[in-house]
Amino acid sequence: MAESSQALLNPPPGTEPALPLLLRPLMLRGLALRNRIVVSPMATYSAVDGMASDFHLVHLGRFALGGAGLVMTEATAVSEKGRITPGCLGLWQDAQIAPFRRLIDFLHEHGAAAGIQLCHSGAKGAGQRPWHGGGPLGEADLAARGEKPWPLVAATSEAFDSGFQTPTALDEAGMAGLIAAYCAAARRAEAAGFDVLELHCAHGYLLHGFLSPLGNRREDDYGGSLENRMRFPLRVAQALRQAWPAARPMFVRISAIDGVDLGWSLADSVGFARALKQIGIDLVDCSTGGMRVPRERSLPARTPGFQVPFASGVRAEAGIATMAVGLIRDPGQAEAILQAGSADLIALGREMLFDPNWAARATVALAGEAGWNAWPQAFGWWLQRRARLDRPKASE
Ligand SMILES: Cc1cc2nc3c(=O)[nH]c(=O)nc-3n(C[C@H](O)[C@H](O)[C@H](O)COP(=O)(O)O)c2cc1C
Repeated sequence: MAESSQALLNPPPGTEPALPLLLRPLMLRGLALRNRIVVSPMATYSAVDGMASDFHLVHLGRFALGGAGLVMTEATAVSEKGRITPGCLGLWQDAQIAPFRRLIDFLHEHGAAAGIQLCHSGAKGAGQRPWHGGGPLGEADLAARGEKPWPLVAATSEAFDSGFQTPTALDEAGMAGLIAAYCAAARRAEAAGFDVLELHCAHGYLLHGFLSPLGNRREDDYGGSLENRMRFPLRVAQALRQAWPAARPMFVRISAIDGVDLGWSLADSVGFARALKQIGIDLVDCSTGGMRVPRERSLPARTPGFQVPFASGVRAEAGIATMAVGLIRDPGQAEAILQAGSADLIALGREMLFDPNWAARATVALAGEAGWNAWPQAFGWWLQRRARLDRPKASE
């Protein structure tokens, strides 16, 4: 681990209480995070055949150099047909391990832990990248880039939206096959060296489609009551928890609500989180949305920290660690969320894209001069001296 990271991971005895919560190390099972700042999973749709490339190494590597405690990969498909777009990362074959290992070695060398988000797209698969339209793949994509849609599976045989493909509803054999695919991907993630595994149960993809009454119209043991709708996601989570090493933490990302007053609710999230806690899940990552809902009934206004109340509610009601995410941009705001006991980790998405050094800058903002330890010496040394030039002179 890089020298600069050790300084924060192991602060000199007696100095810990003075350190803001955001900057304090956190132990999760056998994993020590150097701080509580997480790079939220963010799809770049830049993979070819699901393989991580130098693009992913440099893109994610910047966040380790920039001081983040945990860097999550984007939604990574457990099967080729479980991709959201043709550009998604994957772990459905052994050849996909080595490029991840190289990337993870870099993150570790620079003091960050590495997290994989495992995903199956369900009814929202075979899609275009956002900048190609964000709809279902069609003739134009085939002509322009040779990208053909592939058949989809989901909780229910119902298209996600008009124009989208109608998926096949999963039967028992299909579900068993998918559980095996999730577990095989987890074993590959372990071989690659990932520290944290996050199961994607949010944003309208396969497992959210089982949980939410808006995506699940099944009439068997997997539909209807909350208990039935949770059954398949819990089976996947439990199988993964058993496949994933006991010393490494496992997270689950949920959409805490589908909309303000319909579909999956915060009370459902609390019920799900309680069940997840029972099977050994360490943390619930609280996002929202992703199912199709009428605009007037959609999510709360996107004001700073608008999803924090969900992380707070799940943490208080289910007694499980949570991660807050969504329009968290300011170090003081992040620290206040932790101080209020609303969450245990803070994830940032777009703000990290804007400034991959956000964590190191937050460290200086909250810890003052000592915070420069969070920067790699190769450039922090210079920036610390430049910052001194900005200080008012005694004579001024
Ligand atoms: C470009 C982009 C890609 C994203 N991809 C994913 C993803 O792969 N998996 C996921 O769970 N969330 C994804 N998200 C959601 C983010 O993880 C995060 O929850 C959201 O952007 C809100 O946080 P923010 O306001 O800090 O950006 C993505 C968001 C963005 C902006």
